[in-house]
Amino acid sequence: MDNKFLVIANWKMNLGLEESIKLASAIKESYGEEMKKSKIVLCPSFTNINSVSQIVVDTAISYGAQDVFWEAKGAYTGATSPIMLKELGAEYVIVGHSERRANFGETDEMVNKKVKTCLEFNLIPIICLGEEYKDRKSGRQKQIIERHIRNILKDIKIKKYNQVIVAYEPIWAISTSRQGKPETPDDADDQQELINRILTELYNKDIVENNFKVIYGGSVNKENILGFAERENIEGVLVGSASQNAEDFVDLMNQINKLEK
Ligand code: PGA
Repeated sequence: MDNKFLVIANWKMNLGLEESIKLASAIKESYGEEMKKSKIVLCPSFTNINSVSQIVVDTAISYGAQDVFWEAKGAYTGATSPIMLKELGAEYVIVGHSERRANFGETDEMVNKKVKTCLEFNLIPIICLGEEYKDRKSGRQKQIIERHIRNILKDIKIKKYNQVIVAYEPIWAISTSRQGKPETPDDADDQQELINRILTELYNKDIVENNFKVIYGGSVNKENILGFAERENIEGVLVGSASQNAEDFVDLMNQINKLEK
């Protein structure tokens, strides 16, 4: 995968149509041209993907969805299939976000099926995983991370053209969670290194280098972005709250683009 620093904007269920159009337009205004060091991926709600796609068409900005179902077609009321996302030109899909796990009962087994489907349909999965606060407090985060990765990537073969993003996102670090404070860049870097090590065990060094990117998520904002972006093992960030306000997001991006990384 290229070595651009990836910035994924997770707008969650927060923005309506007009707000999504306005925000995408403001981001396009600043970053519609190819950026040397970074790449932006916008993830609006399903209902707004089409409108956002029309704004960022022919720009350097990519877009994706916040979820997908693992079947391509059928009697699955309310679900969105990978084919439908492809029709909208989406390239990326967030899978296994902790909010989907907590509110919709998603398990690693389900996330595994979603990743398989994404790869089959040539969508880039952004696999979210991370520990809860109680596990962090008892120092079990490494075991939890390892279990997630092994479960989610079980029986998944990576083909040459496949791309996979792994987003380490401790649940307690998400800005809207009860604790809501970011991981320290040092610890985040440490866990990313662990993730790289497990991936190398599952696949091999070449595959990890060419097909995977490991990123961090959880309370990333314009105040702390540099701390994360400067770390060796952090290849991008998944940004929730701070991506939903044009001024904050542009400030965050400006800082990344001035980096020498
Ligand atoms: P946050 O959200 O940046 O608001 O912590 C990140 C996420 O949930 O993906």
